[in-house]
Parts: sequence; C-alpha cells; structure tokens
Amino acid sequence: MEYDVIFIGSGPGGYTGAIRCAQLGLKTAIIEKYPTLGGTCLNVGCIPSKALLDSSEHYYNAAHTFAEHGIKLNDLQVDLAQMIKRKQEVVDQTTKGIAFLMKKNKIDELHGVGSFVDPHTIKITKEDGSEQTITGKNIVIATGSKPMSFPSMPLDKKRVITSTEALALSEIPKHLIVIGAGVIGAELGSVYARIGSKVSFVEFADSMIPTMDKTLGKELQKVVKKLGADFYFNHKVTKVENKGDEVLVSIDTPKGEQITLTGDYCLVSVGRRPYTDGLNLEAAGVKADERGKVEVDKYLRTNVPHIYALGDVIRGAMLAHKAEEEGTFIAEVIVGQKPHIHYHLIPGVVYTWPEVASVGYTEDEIKKEGIPYKVGSFPFKALGRARASMDIDGLVKVLAHKETDEILGVHMIGARAADMIAEAVTAMEFRASAEDVSRMSHAHPTFTEAFKEACLAATDNRAINM
Ligand code: FAD
Ligand code: NAI
Repeated sequence: MEYDVIFIGSGPGGYTGAIRCAQLGLKTAIIEKYPTLGGTCLNVGCIPSKALLDSSEHYYNAAHTFAEHGIKLNDLQVDLAQMIKRKQEVVDQTTKGIAFLMKKNKIDELHGVGSFVDPHTIKITKEDGSEQTITGKNIVIATGSKPMSFPSMPLDKKRVITSTEALALSEIPKHLIVIGAGVIGAELGSVYARIGSKVSFVEFADSMIPTMDKTLGKELQKVVKKLGADFYFNHKVTKVENKGDEVLVSIDTPKGEQITLTGDYCLVSVGRRPYTDGLNLEAAGVKADERGKVEVDKYLRTNVPHIYALGDVIRGAMLAHKAEEEGTFIAEVIVGQKPHIHYHLIPGVVYTWPEVASVGYTEDEIKKEGIPYKVGSFPFKALGRARASMDIDGLVKVLAHKETDEILGVHMIGARAADMIAEAVTAMEFRASAEDVSRMSHAHPTFTEAFKEACLAATDNRAINM
C-alpha cells in the first residue's frame, strides 16, 4: 500500500497532523504501537493527570474549605480505586474519540511497532509477531518521549516509579519522595499531598519549576507547602534503593552532608527523553543528536527531505499543544502552503491549584538580552472574585518594553490561570501594549481583571484596586 503521508506515532502531534493531512486530501496512515491512540498525552500524560488533579482538588476542598463556605460533611473518605477508575474512564472515552476521528477522516489506523526498512518503506511489527510493509511519499516521525532516569535512581516501577505508575497506584503513599520539582513533580506531588500523603521534593535547582519565571516557583512553593510538603532544594540524589516496603533516598545537602529520606514510594520526575527506540533510523539515514533528538530544519524536515519529525522527539518544549501545531504545520508544508509557528508564544501551564501559566520572556531572559523593561504585577487577593471563591493565592506579572510598552512576557499563578493565559497569548500575538490591554473592558467580577490590573500597573503604575 502506498500513502502520501505516514505518521509513526499517534500522540497529539501524530493524530493532529494526520487529520490535517486528510483534510488537505492526502492519503494518510497512522501507526501506533499500543492498542489505543493518543500517545503519552491521552493515555499516561495530560488527560489522566488532569483527571486526578481535579478529583484530588475536590477532596481537598471538601476536607479543608467547604466548612468555611458553610457546607458540612461527615465521614469524608478517599476512594482511590474509584478515583483511578474514573480517570481511566476519561482516558478511554478520549482515546476512543481519536479512533472515531481517524475513521471520520478516512485515515488508516495500523497497530504495531513501525520501523524504517528504507527511506520510503515502513515495516509494522504487530503484537502477534506478524509483519506488514507500507510505503509513503512522506513520512513523519511522531514517536514522542519516555521518562528519563539516572543510574543512581534505578526504576523498578513498583516503589521507584515514573509518572505512568503514579497515575495508577493502588494505595495512597504514606510518604512519597519526589525527585525533581518540575512540572510532573509539582502536579503529581500535589495530587498525593492533597489526599493525605506526606510529600518531600528533592530538587537539583533552587526552586520548584525552575525553568519558569522565578516569581512563579516561589509562589508555587508557598501553596504546595500549605499541603504539608517538604522541600530539599539544591540537593543532589546519590542513591535510591528499593528495600521491599520502603524506599531509601540518599542525598547530598548543599553543605556537603549526607542524609537519607525513607518513604514508601519514590517518583522520579527528572525530565523525559526523545524516543526513537526500534525505529531503525539508520535504514533511512535520518540523523539524531547525541541525546536522541531527531534533527530538523525550519520546515521540520530531517536531513532526508521527505521525512519530517515533530513533538517531543525534536527540539523545543515537550508540550502537547506544541506537538499539535507542528502536526498541522507539516501537513501544510507537504501540500506547499506557507504555515508559521510562533514558538516564542507557546504558553506553558502547570495544573496545580492555583494554576501556573506563562508566555513569552521570563524576567531573567529579558535581563540577559539587555532589553529595557518594566514590570507590573497584581495579587489575586485584591480581586473581589478571588475573595468570593476563597482563591486568594497568586499574582499576575506583566513584563513590558520600557519604551514601546509592548507586552514581552506574562507570568501568572492563580485560579484559572491555565485558561487566562490565552488572553495574554492573543494580546502578544497581535503585539499589544500593556496599555492596550488595560483599556479593554474585562467583566467584573472575574479573575481576568488581575491581568488588566497588572497591565495597568505596568503601563504607568496605575492599578486601580491596589
Ligand atoms: P507522544 O504523545 O509521546 O506520542 C508518541 C506515540 O508514538 C506514542 O503513542 C508511542 O507509543 C508511539 N510510538 C513510539 N514509537 C513508535 C513506533 N516505533 N511505532 C509505532 N508507534 C510508536 N503536555 C501538555 O501540553 N499539557 C499537559 O497537561 C501535559 N501533561 C503531562 C503529564 C504527564 C504525566 C506527562 C508524562 C506528560 C504531559 N505533557 C503535557 C506532555 C505531553 O504528553 C507531550 O508533550 C505530548 O504527548 C507529546 O506529543 P507527541 O505527539 O510528540 O508524542
Ligand atoms: P521537568 O524538566 O519539568 O522537571 C524536571 C526537574 O527535575 C527539574 O526541575 C530539574 O532541575 C530536576 N532534576 C533533574 N535532575 C535531577 C536530579 N538528579 N535530582 C534532583 N532533581 C533533578 O521534567 P518533568 O517534570 O519530568 O516533565 C517532563 C516533561 O513533560 C516536561 O518537559 C513538561 O513539559 C512535560 N509535562 C508538561 C506538563 C504540563 O504542560 N502541564 C505536565 C507534565 C509534564
């Protein structure tokens, strides 16, 4: 069978790209090694983690804030098995939805491990060992990423686990030690801290989510601390040992002392690596760098011009919406269109509560680039809407060009920040100034007023409610 385009991998990048190809009239196939479509994001990433974040947040509120709202509950309990079951139902509905979209768009869905035979031929090895061969005029590598670990922290997937196992535990950990306080650590650490685990974060860097604007890490730490978590920043893990029912984590402190934490589970969330195992890239002559990232040019073409790559397996942020943009981009490049991705304006979100969201330059980046800038920030506690719902933690920080007033970066932590960041993306896409936003009507009372107020603060230090 010959196709116009073959996608290897059905994550957000692969399935979005395949649909766009089909819309553009290309005969398209998608290969997925697992039985369900949707990749990391739908099966063991974005969707299941958000399902557990929502469930655990409901429990936390019922236990800690309902009484203040005047709602009394007796005998509140967590039914973890039910929480995990609901999460799985959400995943199943979502992955079935993708299978429906493949049929609707007449995309051939093929299951098995895809590997290159030559630059145009892909062999699909199915679970029963049988093989099928197809050819493509264009091929897209959309094989995503896998959790990373280090030799000092060997994963056994029972006690020393990755995010995948943390999404399906059969008991609530008594003491969960999280190595890496990045995005996965913050999100899944919050889930278990909310439902009763003691959570200790051990982090190389000096804050949580260290790659985001520094203000956010500090604020996030305050809210996660309220859940009873401990933090070991600037600490180095030297050894992780599974001792049966216990995990021992040996750590070097910044002062050079050695300490050992004892927990019953250890979540290793120290980043993810591009995944090309079994693809046999050599048969196609496709180049990857020493860390396994497939190298691409500005059209997302590999060194073999009809073979493209996208998402977590190439450079850039490992985010579902980035992979989706790239899937669409490749489809449009293949048919000769001139699409564009504004990488600088891809937002990053951490779905803790309150949520953290960011777009554009961080303050450190602006300083490094030597761009003259000004800052406006506004705390959630000064918002009527936030007080009404008791969501007073957090702030919005706007960085604008000192002379032109153009918004260069927006960083927020607060209720519904994940949705609010879209306004900042839109404003920045149209190169709005802080004053432009501060002159737009924002409904009252809403959380979005915090963005307007931060823009007012950035324009001329003239926030109204502070
Ligand atoms: P993937 O989604 O990884 O899909 C790749 C697919 O390729 C997989 O299904 C894999 O089985 C398949 N595959 C690999 N090799 C082969 C082969 N040889 N043959 C056939 N099939 C193959 N991002 C966000 O934007 N928002 C979030 O809230 C978010 N939450 C996350 C939570 C967790 C716990 C994790 C782990 C990740 C999260 N991410 C989130 C990141 C997001 O999941 C990834 O950025 C995204 O899935 C990348 O998409 P992709 O299409 O590049 O690859
Ligand atoms: P990450 O890169 O966000 O965080 C890893 C953390 O581990 C960093 O803070 C790093 O300093 C720390 N670290 C690294 N080595 C360490 C060591 N030896 N000891 C202690 N700390 C160490 O990676 P994470 O959280 O594993 O997530 C992987 C990817 O998945 C991210 O790139 C992220 O984009 C994506 N993701 C996105 C989500 C979202 O958009 N909401 C949610 C979850 C994951």
